[in-house]
Amino acid sequence: MRILGIESSCDDTGIAIIENGKIIENIVLKQEHRFGVVPEYAARAHHIGIYEATKKIFNKIDLVAYTNGPGLMGSLFVGSSFAKGLAYSANIPSIAINHLEGHFLLPYWLYSFEFPFLSLLISGGHTLLIEVYDVDNYKIVSRSLDDAVGEVFDKVARHIGLNYPGGAEIEKYALKASNKKEYHFPNVMLNRDEFSFSGLKTAAIRQINKNSSLAEKYDFCNQFQNHIAKLLELKFEKFYQRNNIKNWVISGGVAANKVIRAAIEAKAKELKCETYYPPIELCTDNGVMIASVADLIYEKIGPSSFNIKPNPSLSI
Ligand code: KG4
Ligand code: ZN
Repeated sequence: MRILGIESSCDDTGIAIIENGKIIENIVLKQEHRFGVVPEYAARAHHIGIYEATKKIFNKIDLVAYTNGPGLMGSLFVGSSFAKGLAYSANIPSIAINHLEGHFLLPYWLYSFEFPFLSLLISGGHTLLIEVYDVDNYKIVSRSLDDAVGEVFDKVARHIGLNYPGGAEIEKYALKASNKKEYHFPNVMLNRDEFSFSGLKTAAIRQINKNSSLAEKYDFCNQFQNHIAKLLELKFEKFYQRNNIKNWVISGGVAANKVIRAAIEAKAKELKCETYYPPIELCTDNGVMIASVADLIYEKIGPSSFNIKPNPSLSI
């Protein structure tokens, strides 16, 4: 079973082929959005890139899997129309995949550990903690009431003059910190199940701006990133005390952050839990994660599932 995965929910055009549990091809075309994603521009860039990338690798495909939400309307429309047209012309089936399932099922597809697992999905659009009992059996137990973690990284980065995507830029700055100056951040929502990041964002941007010195920016990025890592790690611990789920998964673009990975891994070790996350290059949006969900669904349900809709409970 050779599956083509097409991801175009936001700004990255991801085209990949998987077969027998292996990644055969993986192309990600990154768009340039200096100050944050411009939806109209993103859709046009997908429109150009998607054809060229697919043409390069299209070869004996059995199934086309494409993202059909959640995401930017124009970007999704380009990807899904292209995928359906391609499947029709090649006389093969196509399957609509939920972008979020792509993020949090990818580590399971890659490393095949035991269900259930507790999954933290941290991206530019979402912050969700999900109990995953099986493919297509999920319970969202916590979410952000306001901004997503990645969005906060992006907005704070922009405020201090860094480029988009901000999370990766902040991580680079943090490496140069000497921590001569101390910054203070609120411990938002520690006593509640949900996440909230808008208060943290406001507190952060009050303490620094574009004109601050480089040394100050380095220290700030380091402490800001550590603080977010701490908040995420504590939320894992809180839910673990309740559900005793020992396999922890971290996914989404922010999971590329090494400090956040290390903090959660250390907490997991302390509680004798296991952590799983995709390799760094598969944390941000890509076609492999979309193809991998199609593969899991096929394995579980078989060809009759090919017209299933993305899980409506995740369409948020
Ligand atoms: O999953 P993703 O590619 O797109 C969405 O589904 O939203 O995530 C993009 C987000 C951006 O907010 C970006 O700043 C963040 O992932 N990100 C990072 C890092 N690399 C990307 N955040 C923290 N540290 C990183 N190294
Ligand atoms: Zn994503």
